[in-house]
Amino acid sequence: MIASKELIKRESEAIMQTYTRQNVAFLRGIGAHLWDLEGNEYLDFVAGIAVNNVGHCHPHVVEAIKKQAEILIHTSNLYYTENQVLLAEELEQITGTKKAFFCNSGAESVEAALKLSRLATGKSEVVAATGCFHGRTLGALGITYKPVYREPFRPLNEAIYIPYNDSEALKNAVTKETCAVILEPIQGEAGVYVADPDFLRAARQICDETGALLILDEVQTGFGRTGKWFGKDHSNVKPDIITLAKAIAGGLPMGAMLASENVSEIFQRGDHASTFGGGALVSAAALASIEVIKKEGLVKRSEEMGAYMRSELTKLGPKDIRGLGLMVGLDLEADCSFVVQKAREHGVLLNNTGDYTIRLVPPLIVTKEQIDRVVKVIGETSAEA
Ligand SMILES: Cc1ncc(COP(=O)(O)O)c(C=O)c1O
Repeated sequence: MIASKELIKRESEAIMQTYTRQNVAFLRGIGAHLWDLEGNEYLDFVAGIAVNNVGHCHPHVVEAIKKQAEILIHTSNLYYTENQVLLAEELEQITGTKKAFFCNSGAESVEAALKLSRLATGKSEVVAATGCFHGRTLGALGITYKPVYREPFRPLNEAIYIPYNDSEALKNAVTKETCAVILEPIQGEAGVYVADPDFLRAARQICDETGALLILDEVQTGFGRTGKWFGKDHSNVKPDIITLAKAIAGGLPMGAMLASENVSEIFQRGDHASTFGGGALVSAAALASIEVIKKEGLVKRSEEMGAYMRSELTKLGPKDIRGLGLMVGLDLEADCSFVVQKAREHGVLLNNTGDYTIRLVPPLIVTKEQIDRVVKVIGETSAEA
């Protein structure tokens, strides 16, 4: 096996340097733990960026993948497969939507949502919120807030941005040219900012009045992450479209765009497609992962452990703490890149979304003892910083 040091060197020669990676290479994972190539153990409070909700290599998901891989991996969408239909039905049931389109990532689910919105309304303007993140493909990039991400790739179809949680600004921005309003129920990449339920309700009303569609981007907030099945469930707002990815398939790449009844028949044959979307293997993993979330009561657990984690982190006296369930943003006076690096040296994986903000998105199976350890390490490393 290649040693970490050599692997990291070869990576920089073989792979385009688009990522700022932590100085560690992983070999295996179980539950909330990862082990690097040298056998060191880490407690993982990043969870593949809110992907590993059921933990690393959950036995039920692994078993489902193994079983499916032995009989059929891929056939394309020229044919029918059972898992894809079962998964669509399951997603519709847990989200209250009507029909699904499957793809392979969050950005792709946003692209599908944009295309559907254009077809449904015959318009093309999008209203989004400052701080939002919807992905890096050209369509999704145009409606992603950070100007430095967009600037080098202009011209793009860019959104009109209004301050998050500002209903009045939203009302003023949505016109008869607007095809969709897209919002995250909690802004993850921005540093975990929670939507005011009244803001989401106002968005619903503004869309109803103007004929624009309401897209809720639940790529990061889905599958129990926020202490409810989906972020929208904190406000009971019914979007026209939901975008999903990240935790959907227990760690395998998958995305889904779900449409409510009013727009469920808009896409017709040929309007959109994906070779891999909703394949037999990834759909089996998604069904197994959803089963685990249900059987192990992980939505409730996320609510309870999230409340515990926030109350313990509050004792550190942070500048600010935000979030719902196990999606938590912590603002510190300390340099958070330093905290992340030091914590890793103490065997704890963290992620900072900004110079002074840590985002904590551990697997939903996390225990109080694991939370205690991470809080202690954050306390010690931030004091050092
Ligand atoms: C809310 C949201 N939408 C879309 C995306 C893009 O997802 P992907 O990286 O799978 O394309 C992300 C990724 O972080 C996200 O958080």
